[in-house]
Amino acid sequence: MKKIISMKNTIIDYENLALLNAPFFDEYTKVFDETLKSGWYILGKCVEAFEKEFALFNKSNHCIGVASGLDAITLSLKAFDFDGGSEIIVPSNTYIATILSVLQNNMKPILVEPSLATYNIDPEKIEAAITKKTKAIVIVHLYGKPCNMDPIINICKKYDLKLIEDCAQSHGATYKNKHTGTFGDFGAFSFYPTKNLGALGDAGAVLSKDTELAKNIIKLRNYGSTVKYYNDIVGFNSRLDEIQAAFLSVKLKHLDEINNHKRKLASIYISNLKSDFIKPVVDIDYKDVYHIFNIRHEKRDELRNYLLDNNIKTEIHYPVSPSKQKALQGNLSHYEYPISEKIHATTLSLPISFFHTEDQVNRVIEVMNMF
Ligand SMILES: Cc1ncc(COP(=O)(O)O)c(C=O)c1O
Repeated sequence: MKKIISMKNTIIDYENLALLNAPFFDEYTKVFDETLKSGWYILGKCVEAFEKEFALFNKSNHCIGVASGLDAITLSLKAFDFDGGSEIIVPSNTYIATILSVLQNNMKPILVEPSLATYNIDPEKIEAAITKKTKAIVIVHLYGKPCNMDPIINICKKYDLKLIEDCAQSHGATYKNKHTGTFGDFGAFSFYPTKNLGALGDAGAVLSKDTELAKNIIKLRNYGSTVKYYNDIVGFNSRLDEIQAAFLSVKLKHLDEINNHKRKLASIYISNLKSDFIKPVVDIDYKDVYHIFNIRHEKRDELRNYLLDNNIKTEIHYPVSPSKQKALQGNLSHYEYPISEKIHATTLSLPISFFHTEDQVNRVIEVMNMF
């Protein structure tokens, strides 16, 4: 397809981690130097400090740093010690990690379709999926939009189910002024570098209001031990390391600024993109953080190529739905998930990183509105 704006033809990346982190380089260098010279690299003062800061930021009682977002969900499920073969409800529209966390606990993921308006699990479809074997629901605040929490909490109460929130994409997002990650028994976070609160490597954390549950995670992440060489349960090595914790403490101070910038860019997209594109819904009770800003369009692939021809890079979250992933064949019930399929076939993620400017977003809009 032809290029339409030859004058302003510089490339707009979808993401660029060096540019995203550039404003924090001086602070990172300082804490790296301090941590390096401290000689203490695993489970020390930096991890403790970050855990306190992140619990405070979210108004939660406990935060436990772990090695990744996948581990945060896996250990959360493990902490309940459910029987193998128990059923765990998960959204059919999510990143594969949510589903892998269930399989890694030898339990059965039961997929529930999302709402086509919000892309998050549809509370009205959850009850039909509950059986005697159901033990918990793992919800995902996808793209940084909080799930519809009131009905989900009511269902958990009614059926006595545990609730785990996958907050890998929703750092700082709130539902009715309460942070995602503080509604359920556990809030599981990823700090993968592209996340709104991203580290400079793999990292994750679990939030919990419950002291006993938090103690389970503290043991599970460190070989089942709280006293060196005394192991109470079969645990893992899933520790957040000191250097990443130090970087995360730096970034956490800027998280509101990062989220507000992304919200500003999202509001420009929402106000100015023509109505041919299906845009994210906005609701006063839901304060999104737009980890991902997606639109949907029937000619998504054509649109993506057209944008690339005009030097605008985009992404697809995600091109293949979990139920169609080769790795999951044989692990899921053989149902059809038409809403997820529709989302996967039509969704397109637009540039919305901390380094993107309003001018760049306006250029994306200008080009898109000529499609
Ligand atoms: C929704 C969701 N859950 C879980 C994860 C897993 O996080 P990590 O890559 O840190 O293991 C991700 C990461 O991309 C994610 O997007």
